[in-house]
Amino acid sequence: MSEPLILGIESTCDETGVAFVRGRELLGDVTATSMDEYARFGGIIPEIASRAHLESFIPTLDAACAKANVDLSEVDAIAVCAGPGLIGSLTVGISAAKALAVSLNKPIYGVNHVIGHLAVDELVDGPLPERFVGLIVSGGHSNLLAISNIATDVKELGGTLDDAAGEAFDKVGRLLGLPYPGGPHVDKFSQQGNVDAIRFPRGLAAGKDKVRHRYDFSFSGLKTAVARYVETLQTQGEEVPAADVCASFSEAVNDSLTAKAVQACLDHDCDTLVVGGGFSANSRLRSLAAERCEAAGITLRIPPLRYCTDNGAQIAALGSAAVRAGVAPSPLDFGPQSGMPLSITVAH
Ligand code: KG4
Ligand code: ZN
Repeated sequence: MSEPLILGIESTCDETGVAFVRGRELLGDVTATSMDEYARFGGIIPEIASRAHLESFIPTLDAACAKANVDLSEVDAIAVCAGPGLIGSLTVGISAAKALAVSLNKPIYGVNHVIGHLAVDELVDGPLPERFVGLIVSGGHSNLLAISNIATDVKELGGTLDDAAGEAFDKVGRLLGLPYPGGPHVDKFSQQGNVDAIRFPRGLAAGKDKVRHRYDFSFSGLKTAVARYVETLQTQGEEVPAADVCASFSEAVNDSLTAKAVQACLDHDCDTLVVGGGFSANSRLRSLAAERCEAAGITLRIPPLRYCTDNGAQIAALGSAAVRAGVAPSPLDFGPQSGMPLSITVAH
């Protein structure tokens, strides 16, 4: 008998994503985004995002059915993001998923969006190993996790004490007058700059901080150092070397992320590191992680760019893993959790 067919629905932030997964095979996915509407505001407006989900959901679902060549009557279970995310956006996706679950009389799984960023890798690189370390890097998260079963056993090792990596990039982008979201622009600039041009600080990398916060990150001191550097040059009427600032800043962030991720693998005797989240599109993160993992004998798994940003496939993949692990479905009255903890994979 073939494996169950899972419909995945993503709506944590500005992307409406719908995907169909059978086992670990992605049959098709479609994503709509309202990101273009926020450039003029310099940030996401939650009310606009919620309304965009409402308008996009049915067309996105129809397009995904067509792409995957699936009829809704064939679906065995529905997975939807339960959190963490914007409460209005989550509410739209969860309401739609519940309506489908009731009308199709199928179980529903309210899954953790952030863990989905790692689960999606199974669709590309095959089954996850028995034990691995996960590095989540997105606009809202920078976390290290020890995972033995992605559906049932996720332990948080550490996270950022202040800004997430993507958030820090977006703030530096704003500081340099780059369009929102700044992350990809700062990345592009950094590729033309010198990583050693400016020595920016690495947070929690030395002394007592390093001991107490072995797997934690801090990027706010770095962000302040970049702001001071830029302001000093501006008040002196000097030109800001944007490429060098971006390269040196990017190096500081990625040095912290990759050094601690490799350390976590070594400490936990894991030979695989899985990286996920929107920031894993970052070019320097990819090259530095590859370099350091190879030197330490660690296998590095990062999904392709298209599955690093928010999408329905990550939700369907995690729903599929939950079904495979025999996890009970969510009760029909589960609600959105804007701050859903990383230790909870399926809402109950
Ligand atoms: O995971 P994601 O799509 O949304 C959240 O769940 O947060 O991550 C989006 C974040 C944004 O902060 C964006 O600027 C950042 O990822 N980002 C990048 C790059 N591509 C996306 N940051 C740096 N370099 C990139 N290439
Ligand atoms: Zn995300």
